[in-house]
Amino acid sequence: MPFAPPVPASLPASVEVGLGSGGLPVVRVAGRQGSAEIYLHGAQVTAWTPAGGRPVLWLSATSRFLPDAAIRGGVPICFPWFGAKAGAPSAAAHGFARLTEWEFVDAQEAGDDVVLTFRLGDTPATRASAWPHRFEALYTVTVGTRLALALRITNLEPEAVTFEEALHTYLRVDDVRDVRVAGLEGAPFLDQLAGLTEAPGASEPVRFEAETDRIYLGTDAAATVIDPAGHSVTIEKRESHSTVVWNPWAAKARSMSDFGDEEWTGMVCVETANIRGDLVRLEPGQSHTMTAVLAAVA
Ligand code: BG6
Repeated sequence: MPFAPPVPASLPASVEVGLGSGGLPVVRVAGRQGSAEIYLHGAQVTAWTPAGGRPVLWLSATSRFLPDAAIRGGVPICFPWFGAKAGAPSAAAHGFARLTEWEFVDAQEAGDDVVLTFRLGDTPATRASAWPHRFEALYTVTVGTRLALALRITNLEPEAVTFEEALHTYLRVDDVRDVRVAGLEGAPFLDQLAGLTEAPGASEPVRFEAETDRIYLGTDAAATVIDPAGHSVTIEKRESHSTVVWNPWAAKARSMSDFGDEEWTGMVCVETANIRGDLVRLEPGQSHTMTAVLAAVA
């Protein structure tokens, strides 16, 4: 049978749908100010390059591209929980959104930008999951000199619901051991490598000298990845009060089958999120939009 994923009735010339790695449907964007690739699996942006610039996102060369696995790199969407689901040890880490094929509902050119919209609603499978609620998720990806990612969740239940979310952004760096992340100074964090103990805020930017896995809570601040080799990036955010910073370092990378043994030096995750004490509560019919805006620093 010919390949025919559901696509918007009309697409601008800068957008095409094809088959990507593993035969999964992918949306390819070649805009005037930037190019990008977005898999319908997870609505996962796996590549973004501003015009005249370098690729900003990191994607593992050993990633799986399978309907029931998460893609390792780009921007996985973690929803409706982050990490392990409390009280549901067998539930998939980081929720079902990154494991589910989203609908591609719209693509428009807006000036020099290309704006794409993806949708995920509840299904019998999600209603049987550890988060069984009725909802609609709309994800708007704006590709241009900046990459803007907006995740809008609407509660379709007749009662209030809560959820966690993260735009789990994998950034390409030259060597993480030379990188700093600025913007989180003073913010206390939960150290995931020390049983989620709370550590006081530091006065200096984050440096990487070992495995790092921190959830900064109660921070709306923009973060800047400072890479002396030229891969510096700012991440501004709206309606996000948590920021996760992660690098697996050597031993953890070796233990992951979809992460190359040596690849950990070339990436860092700075994740725009609402987690744990910052989780989102929505009344019936209410919506919430969390936004991350990435810009390469020249
Ligand atoms: C990070 C978490 O966000 O994601 C880490 O803080 C986790 O604890 C990492 O190891 C990767 O998670 P996963 O499920 O994609 O392997």
